[in-house]
Amino acid sequence: MESRGVKAATGSDKAIQEELQRGGQIPTHIAIIMDGNGRWAKKRGLPRIAGHNEGVESVRDTVEVCGQLGVRYLTLYAFSTENWRRPQEEVSMLMRLLMRALRDETDKLHRNNVKVHAIGEISALPREVQDEMIDAIEKTKHNTGLNLLLALSYSGRWDITNAFKNIIADLHKGKLSAHQVDEATISKHLSTQNAPDPDLLIRTSGEFRISNFLLWQLAYTEIFISDCYWPDFRRDEVYRAIRDFQTRERRFGMVSEQVCTKEGGQVGRSPRESSLKHTLKSVSGL
Ligand code: FPP
Repeated sequence: MESRGVKAATGSDKAIQEELQRGGQIPTHIAIIMDGNGRWAKKRGLPRIAGHNEGVESVRDTVEVCGQLGVRYLTLYAFSTENWRRPQEEVSMLMRLLMRALRDETDKLHRNNVKVHAIGEISALPREVQDEMIDAIEKTKHNTGLNLLLALSYSGRWDITNAFKNIIADLHKGKLSAHQVDEATISKHLSTQNAPDPDLLIRTSGEFRISNFLLWQLAYTEIFISDCYWPDFRRDEVYRAIRDFQTRERRFGMVSEQVCTKEGGQVGRSPRESSLKHTLKSVSGL
């Protein structure tokens, strides 16, 4: 049988990753708004597509490092509902790029035990992109490593509208009654279905906007803004974002004393506290 697994980190990467794993919680779910491809290209006097091309390298590096760190879900905002409004030429080039990236990367993703999912109005994509997407999903469906969710023709409002429609259909079919509709029902009818809500949202290019991404799912997500344009965003920025995440105290509407129990256990275990505990443990040899 073919053996699959994420390629292990080596050298300084290995040391950094081990430090992060000891230092606190690795986010279970990271979502990324990949922004700044056009500006990256413009700064270099290149056509916008050059930025998107280089952005694929950042996708590759981010997927690899998230797999190595043990992140369970990575959601990438690759093409929004609003992106259809871009000049036709850019949309066509982006679709070709996506098709090529899926075609070229699926085998490697599969070897690395990554399971590919698509969220968004996939039927709106050109047939060839849909076919590559279906192939990638089919080929990787039994994988048990990182879940890679590609948001394509996606928007948070589209997702919520779609969930409404599906819930109404279930009500009509008698599969659901109105009093059963709660937050969990809505979450299950969203395109992210069984994925937990993101712990960490990263947005590149220094912009402070959610841009119609995962509107329901981001309710309690920690946000990290990177000044890098997406094509410059590589593993060191992933490390920086996670390090920053590990300093946050996630209170989920409660007070600090409630989330940090004496044992350092969570609801929201304070990462600072767990890191301190770890240091004390290793110094004392316990
Ligand atoms: C935002 O930069 C980026 C996009 C709209 C497309 C992102 C797509 C990729 C990185 C290509 C491949 C993706 C996968 C998943 C293989 P922008 O064009 O909005 O940049 P700007 O704000 O500087 O104009």
